[in-house]
Amino acid sequence: MKISIVGTGYMGLATGVGFASKKNHVICMDIDKKRLDKIEGGKSPVYETGLQDLLEGVVEKKNLEVSSDLDYAVKNSDVSFICVPTPSKRNGSSDLKFIDKVSRDLGLSLSKKDSYHVVVVKSTIPPKTTEKLIIPNLEEFSGKRVGKDFGVCMNPEFLREGSALDDFLNPDRIVIGELDKRSGDALVELYANFNAPIIRTGLKVAEMIKYASNAFLASKISFANEIGNVCKNLGIDVYEVMMGVGLDHRISPHFLRAGIGFGGSCFSKDLKALVNKSKTIGYDPVYLEGALNLNERQPVRIVNLLRKRVGTLRGRDICILGLAFKPNTDDVRDASSIRIVKELLKFGAKIRAYDPKAIDNFRELFPGLLYCKTAREALRGSDACLVLTEWEDFKNLEDKDFSVMKNRVIIEGRKALNPNKVKDFEGVCW
Ligand code: UGA
Repeated sequence: MKISIVGTGYMGLATGVGFASKKNHVICMDIDKKRLDKIEGGKSPVYETGLQDLLEGVVEKKNLEVSSDLDYAVKNSDVSFICVPTPSKRNGSSDLKFIDKVSRDLGLSLSKKDSYHVVVVKSTIPPKTTEKLIIPNLEEFSGKRVGKDFGVCMNPEFLREGSALDDFLNPDRIVIGELDKRSGDALVELYANFNAPIIRTGLKVAEMIKYASNAFLASKISFANEIGNVCKNLGIDVYEVMMGVGLDHRISPHFLRAGIGFGGSCFSKDLKALVNKSKTIGYDPVYLEGALNLNERQPVRIVNLLRKRVGTLRGRDICILGLAFKPNTDDVRDASSIRIVKELLKFGAKIRAYDPKAIDNFRELFPGLLYCKTAREALRGSDACLVLTEWEDFKNLEDKDFSVMKNRVIIEGRKALNPNKVKDFEGVCW
């Protein structure tokens, strides 16, 4: 099938490369020409496991091309995927300015095309946005009728950063919200060679499935963190507890890793948008707000624990290992490390930080920290160490690596260290 992808962030690019690897022809469209140049040269602009190799292959085989011209992308494809971001506004609601603009532009491009075309929304958008904003824009700017001249589907993504390509190629399920049967059929055909159940449903159900999935996963983490906080006070290891809990098949062992709270560009943003949406319809979402509140407090706990262990932080050298919001990514958006660094700086600490991938991005937020080239360099002479991302590298750290510290206080915010290799450390809630 001929596909165009509008927006080449980590989600759009993984989707484009994934479809291209399944022998479709993909046009990646973006307004950022520098990004497109990189993609055209076979270089991934984002760090994603496996993406670089697969991108190189599909560009070489000419299964993937780039264009900054939306008319060209629409004219030369049968299906267009909207993959633009939907960031948070100050009040927590979803900022739909990119969705608004792209759907207008797509409408204009559709007005110049004679044959039937399917527009698929992949971006995360509040329930009813496709019906209330995207379709009216498409109809107005194309002068055409939805369901007759063009089709519309809502096909949410469930890609985790860092493993986006693998999640795309091996999904648990594929959700197709469809306005008209013809466009739904086209998507079913596109996904025919994926080994996953397909759920065909309406547009607003598909939109809500995405929000409910992220809200559930985020609140599952907050639940584990709450139990962890109680466990810590009782001298119980929450990881042992969650192993016992997660083996109940109704619960599952996933997303029960307690720590400094969920970060990243999705969970907080989507929870806030759902909270905001609920309030606009007069419902008070106490459960969702609880999950969010707990998450905001969780990073502060590790700083409080540190202060209990070392006393005043003023002028003390604190080593931070791990800045990314999770391993295998250079992304620091909404990372718990940001909140922790702010707290440490507030108390006058001096920070020496190391991360295998995320230093450049973190430096943009905090240019004044001391950034180190290795974990050992960051540990040298420090008064305490906080481990904030569970990078694989950190699992290999040994006692001798920590022996270069001035004062041996080691606290993990994520389960990262190997107790067979390192002695005397504690976790934020274990
Ligand atoms: C999340 C969802 O997992 C994806 O399904 C979804 O498509 C994506 O958001 C999105 O909406 O685009 P992502 O934010 O990339 O994916 O990362 P996750 O692996 O879900 O981790 C999010 C945060 O939760 C990380 O900070 C991670 O360390 C934390 N986490 C995760 C925990 O603290 N405990 C856990 O048990 C699992």
